[in-house]
Amino acid sequence: MSAVGQGFFVTGTGTDVGKTISTVVLMHYFQNQGKIVSGFKPVASGCTRYSGQLRNQDALVLQSKSSHSLPYELINPYAFEPAVSPHIAAKETNRVIDFSVITANYAALAGASDIVFVEGVGGWYAPLSDSADVATLAKVLALPIILVVGIQLGGINYARLTFDAICASGLPCVGWIANCVEPEMVASTENIATIRRFITAPLLGIIPYDKTMNFSVLAKGIQW
Ligand SMILES: Nc1ncnc2c1ncn2[C@@H]1O[C@H](COP(=O)(O)OP(=O)(O)OP(=O)(O)O)[C@@H](O)[C@H]1O
Ligand SMILES: [Mg+2]
Repeated sequence: MSAVGQGFFVTGTGTDVGKTISTVVLMHYFQNQGKIVSGFKPVASGCTRYSGQLRNQDALVLQSKSSHSLPYELINPYAFEPAVSPHIAAKETNRVIDFSVITANYAALAGASDIVFVEGVGGWYAPLSDSADVATLAKVLALPIILVVGIQLGGINYARLTFDAICASGLPCVGWIANCVEPEMVASTENIATIRRFITAPLLGIIPYDKTMNFSVLAKGIQW
């Protein structure tokens, strides 16, 4: 299968900032335009064993939201049980994260899709081994980056640091998403306006704090 789809690598200002939520919103946005979309979570730790198989919640969500029915192992080749940084989880379970496996899975997904969203793990510099991190993986896949910024105290600093690091990688940042992860964030509008001054890539959307997660409604807020 040859890679024909366009891919995007979704990273964030850290863990739990809304990478998965934002990815699903973007998947809905493009599915609403008739595109065949796949989600890819190459590396995940903190997985749960179901009937002997390790499964990651993010990967299950991306699998269920993908346009095609896709095998779990294609979407998440590296599923680690320990809920620790992937480089530690890999060592603890005597595994090595092989980027050639990830690029092969990506090519298979891209060959079957118009668009593939690749969700990273943790933040931009989260280690995957002693010598590679999420940034290395993004560079190997050579994909444009989407940055998810958690709108939270300290978020301006995290956003600036991460955006600068993405720019330093040489990969294009096609845009960022402001995700309101906190129910009562003080001055969130002012925070978003401030981050907008520092991140020169376009703001693709603001996801409000919303426990109901109506993705079709949230997708209407995306401006691509
Ligand atoms: N806009 C929002 N409104 C309400 N809850 C949110 C919002 N965004 C994220 N959350 C919640 O915060 C948690 C983290 O979100 P999510 O899983 O998307 O983050 P992540 O960056 O993908 O995390 P991880 O680093 O584990 O992959 C989830 O429980 C999610 O439901
Ligand atoms: Mg996630």
